[in-house]
This record gives sequence, C-alpha cells and structure tokens, in this order.
Amino acid sequence: MPRVKDYIDSTPLTKEELLKIVNISLAIKKSIKAGHYPQLLKNKSLGMVFQQSSTRTRVSFETAMTQLGGHAQFLAPGQIQLGGHESLEDTARVLSRLVDIIMARVDRHEDVANLAKFASIPVINAMSDYNHPTQELGDLCTIVENLPAGKNIEDIRVTFVGDCTQVCASLGFIVTKMGGHFTQFGPEGYQLNEAYQAVLKANCEVSGGTFTLTDNEEIGLRDADFVYTDVWYGLYDDERSPEDMERIFYPKYQVTDAMMKKAAPHAKFMHCLPASRVPNFPTEICEVTNEVLDAPYSLCWDEAENRLTSIRGILVYFMPKLALDSVKADEAKAELDSLLAK
Ligand code: CP
Repeated sequence: MPRVKDYIDSTPLTKEELLKIVNISLAIKKSIKAGHYPQLLKNKSLGMVFQQSSTRTRVSFETAMTQLGGHAQFLAPGQIQLGGHESLEDTARVLSRLVDIIMARVDRHEDVANLAKFASIPVINAMSDYNHPTQELGDLCTIVENLPAGKNIEDIRVTFVGDCTQVCASLGFIVTKMGGHFTQFGPEGYQLNEAYQAVLKANCEVSGGTFTLTDNEEIGLRDADFVYTDVWYGLYDDERSPEDMERIFYPKYQVTDAMMKKAAPHAKFMHCLPASRVPNFPTEICEVTNEVLDAPYSLCWDEAENRLTSIRGILVYFMPKLALDSVKADEAKAELDSLLAK
C-alpha cells in the first residue's frame, strides 16, 4: 500500500506505522541528547499556518526544523493572504511550489482537510476542532517511555478525566489503535459523541483494545496506569462561562491527589498543557490541582518535551525526499541507529 501523504488523523495509519514514527522520534531524541543532530531535513522548508495561538506546537515545529537542518516559516493570520484575498485552495497550491511540507493549526477541521486535498506536498494537522494528532504521537512517546514494569503497550489502561476535548478524542484514538484500554471519566453530555465512539470501536475491532465512557469515579479510575486531563473551558464553545465550568465539572472531575490514589499505585499523571493553575484561575474552574501538576508522578513536563520529540519524527517520516540521499524513513532510522552506535 502507498504511504499516507498527510498526517491529518491517525485513523488511516496502522499501529505499525504509528510505532515506526515513535521509534524514529525516540532514536533522534537519543541522538540529539548525545550531541549529534542528524541533518535529515537539510535545505527543507516548512510552512506553518496558524489560525490560533500556540506555545508547544509552534516552538516544537520550529525547533525541530532548525535542529534537523531545515527552516520553518511562521504564517500567521494577517501576514499571509489566506483568510483575506486568497482562498484556502489557492494557498495550498502556492505553498506546494514554495515549501516542502505544511503544518496547520485551524479552527475548523475541514480547513486542514482541504489544505491536504489541494496541496501536492504533505500537510500535518497541528490541531483542529476534531483532533490533535501531533499531540497523540507525543503522548505515545511519553507512554512508551513510562510503561509500567512488565506491561506492553497493549496492556495499558489510560483514563481521561473531564470534558470531551479534541485531546480527549485523540488520546482515545491512539490508545485504542495500540490495543490498549481507554476510559473517559466525564459527565453525561460531555462524553465522546457517537462519531468519535465509532472510530474507537473500529480501532478496538482491529487491535483488541477496549473503551469505556463513564461518570462513575470508581469505574473510571480503577487500575488506570495513566490519568490524563485537559481544560474545561470548552475550546470552541463560546457559551462556556466560568459558572458553567464549575457547575458541570467541579469538584467531581478535578484531578486531585486523592483522585490519583484511586488509580493504580504506580499511576502517572498527564496533561497536554496549557493547564489552568491557581492563582491564575479560581480553583473551581481548574481541571487539576497545582499539587498534582507538580507531583513526582506528573509527566506533564516530559510530555511537553515529547511534543518536540515526536514532531521531529513526524517531519522525518512525512517529508518527501529526505536529505539522506533518497533514503526512506525506515532507512533513515537505520542510519540513526548506526550513528547512535558510534
Ligand atoms: N498542547 C498544545 O497543543 O499546546 P499549544 O497550544 O501551546 O501548542
């Protein structure tokens, strides 16, 4: 089968392909930690289209391109013609002649899907209102690096606490793709909808994984190896007031140290960040306590670092004609392995 051109969604990729990207990511991470920066993206250019603000995603893409020998261009609203005089389709066609790969963070998923449709070069979805696939692979790197003793990726139990954000959906996608066990512990009406459930079900049928949606804390937290949360502010829901956040989620769905104790004894905490923290926000609208964010069992800073880790791997995997003289990404991995062996 031909390789998937774009990374809009993890759904068209197999478990093996996704794990290959993780392996490339971790090999490059190891290489860079040892002081060697493999110039796999030498002379390559990335166009970064942003319709929203970003810290981790923007900095990771820019740093990844620089570290691997390429260059990234920040294409913000108001700085390019997209959204003004030029259509999305024409922007896709023009960028295809000017850069080697595009990433886009968009308000509406159909925009990134259309960029991919009209671009002749690869397009990476850097978050939409539907999913966050680069976060998925960063989180998979973090999970692989922190597998509980004696467990394989197929054995993991991951619980997402709170609102059905696109990060919640993406976490469910990647865990069930791997054959793991995904639970969303969230209030009725704020659990993953039927369209998302259909993807989880299809993944589980292939992988042997499972998924559970529940508002029961005991069921939600039982034996969880990883407890994950995300903000309550609704992301794309302008109506979500602080009063609504408190009414819907607080205190039952705030991740506290007491809640962590209901998960497996070795459980780790994960958060995609940014987090709502006291005193920047009142505790009644914080999805997690400061104590948990800063606990020894919190992986959220490793997770932030692994956005860069996985984005390096994603760029190498999807970049047409890598700088290593027409090598394929898996051959690049072998090249990396030989570099690492030195
Ligand atoms: N997690 C994440 O996507 O962070 P940014 O919005 O800062 O990119």
